[in-house]
Amino acid sequence: MKFPQDFIERVREASNIIDVIGQYVQLRRTGHNHQGLCPFHNEKSPSFSVSEDKQVYHCFGCKASGNVFSFVQNYQGLTFPEAVEFLARRAGLPIPQVERGENPRSSKEPLFRVNALAANFFVTELKKLPSSHPVKEYLRRRGLSEELVETHKLGYAPDAWTQLTDLFDSKKVPLSLAEQLGLIKRRTGGKTGHYDIFRHRLMFPIISSSGQVLGFGGRVLNKEHQPKYLNSPDSPIFHKGKVFYGLNFSGKYIRAADEAIIVEGYMDWLALVKGGVTNVVATLGTALTPDHARAIKRFTNKVLLLFDGDEAGRSAARRSLPILLEEGILCRGLILPDDLDPDDYINKFGADKLKALIAAAPDLFEIVAANVWMESKGSPSGKVRFLDEMSPILERVSDGRLKTLYIQNLANLIDVAPALIEQSVKKPVKRREVRPQATPEAPKAAQEPDKIDLKGLPKPELELLNVILLREVYLKEALASGVFTQISHPGGRKVFGRLQELYGLMPNKFDMLSALIAGEVCQPEMVTRHLTDPYRNLTDDGAAKLLQDCILRVKDKFLRNQSKELLSGLRALNPADSADQLEQIMNVHRNRRSLARDS
Ligand code: UTP
Ligand code: MN
Repeated sequence: MKFPQDFIERVREASNIIDVIGQYVQLRRTGHNHQGLCPFHNEKSPSFSVSEDKQVYHCFGCKASGNVFSFVQNYQGLTFPEAVEFLARRAGLPIPQVERGENPRSSKEPLFRVNALAANFFVTELKKLPSSHPVKEYLRRRGLSEELVETHKLGYAPDAWTQLTDLFDSKKVPLSLAEQLGLIKRRTGGKTGHYDIFRHRLMFPIISSSGQVLGFGGRVLNKEHQPKYLNSPDSPIFHKGKVFYGLNFSGKYIRAADEAIIVEGYMDWLALVKGGVTNVVATLGTALTPDHARAIKRFTNKVLLLFDGDEAGRSAARRSLPILLEEGILCRGLILPDDLDPDDYINKFGADKLKALIAAAPDLFEIVAANVWMESKGSPSGKVRFLDEMSPILERVSDGRLKTLYIQNLANLIDVAPALIEQSVKKPVKRREVRPQATPEAPKAAQEPDKIDLKGLPKPELELLNVILLREVYLKEALASGVFTQISHPGGRKVFGRLQELYGLMPNKFDMLSALIAGEVCQPEMVTRHLTDPYRNLTDDGAAKLLQDCILRVKDKFLRNQSKELLSGLRALNPADSADQLEQIMNVHRNRRSLARDS
């Protein structure tokens, strides 16, 4: 699905990069740019530059870079269309509606609106209750403060049959949409009308990174009611096997901590967040899937599984391990003692105790191996059975170094030579390059396959690109020199071509070029380098000289390539035909000599 280009441009204009990034990063003005601590890696002194003029950012430390859209994509873990939508909402621009079917996103819009209406309804219902109401009592008993409830938009589905249905009726909401979302159901047995599905439950909205309500979980207040948690059914906007509870809130903390803690329940999530452990998400009563793993990888490639200390928790941890390993995620594990879940544990021992356990948690692989080993006997055949259990897991480890370390680990555990374990691992070490989706940058690249690849761009071309993005006069000068037609790198040729094209389209918007081009290449850091040294501190003279130097070097390389081609062509020619060719080659060399003289 694509938004119309003019809409994207309107969103861009309404989203000043300083305001957007300033919401998440403390920025200080320094000369032409703003500076702050990079939100994409841990650092103590600021190497993150944002240019208001050029509407791009660049980190000297980790090379994170791009325009306002890529910032939101990377910071919030969104796809490009999601980032556009996020910024449009932020700026209060209406999201364009495209024909149903043609545009899957806008066909989802009405569903999002219905869920948003329901979420507000549940919140309002909870707010208006007296503090003696059972749900308020329940919240107190579970230690959930009003502030926590408000921040995470918890609500209450009233103990009645048609309040939500009536609300939908009064707002002319198509009831079929609410039905699709599992909020209401058509009466059966000859009766007409609909009834509410969530009744007398504490409601947890499940919210996407861009703030949309995807679905709900509702907890019973009376023990005798079933099921304990009722979740929205899967719908066009909700897939339990892909979504986490709490990621909308915790994404930025996960990025900062560079690790995601995964728990099994809504209440565990709240207990941890309340206890100050904020880099946490919860699965929704389903097993962890590869889609979950990929969702996490937009934020970090490290995970800590914090599962209940019961049999179900232990076996869920064991099943999750190969899934995480296969996605190239480094995972630690913490299985709590005495059948406790994280919420119970915090209530019993306090959050600090849990934090200490978290800090010391070992690799999940070691935990699983120890569990499997406990089930096996120490005899030779017991060891073989152990290896048969562990080999499929080892085979999924995509990082070769990690695999070697794990093999050593197992060898020590069961006291055999590592070679024996290697022997029982069938599949060869999987190379990370073979599975590009196994790297944190992957989702971005996978969704936008038509970006220009600048890998291997020669230095003169890279410098030329950055110097002409510094000031309009340099761009003009470079255009006049004809150097744009002499770029050797295929991706470079495309970028210079795009620059020329964009500049032609909007000659009075030179300052927008950096941001536009940064959005069109796989390596935006190569385009935004001009925000940092040495470009930033160039004097006018210095920049002009650098420009001339780059032009010369690019041209020289071009001519050298050309003469090489001609020479090899010449060798293949009949001597009779070669006079013209020879002449050309000599011209080329003459040109080169005169260029060298001029410089
Ligand atoms: P648990 O049964 O361990 O509940 O389910 P819990 O998280 O400890 O909840 P409290 O503390 O009793 O309130 C773990 C998770 O499994 C899913 C929910 O996501 C729940 O948070 N679940 C559980 C369901 O989806 N349906 C159920 O009926 C039970
Ligand atoms: Mn619990």
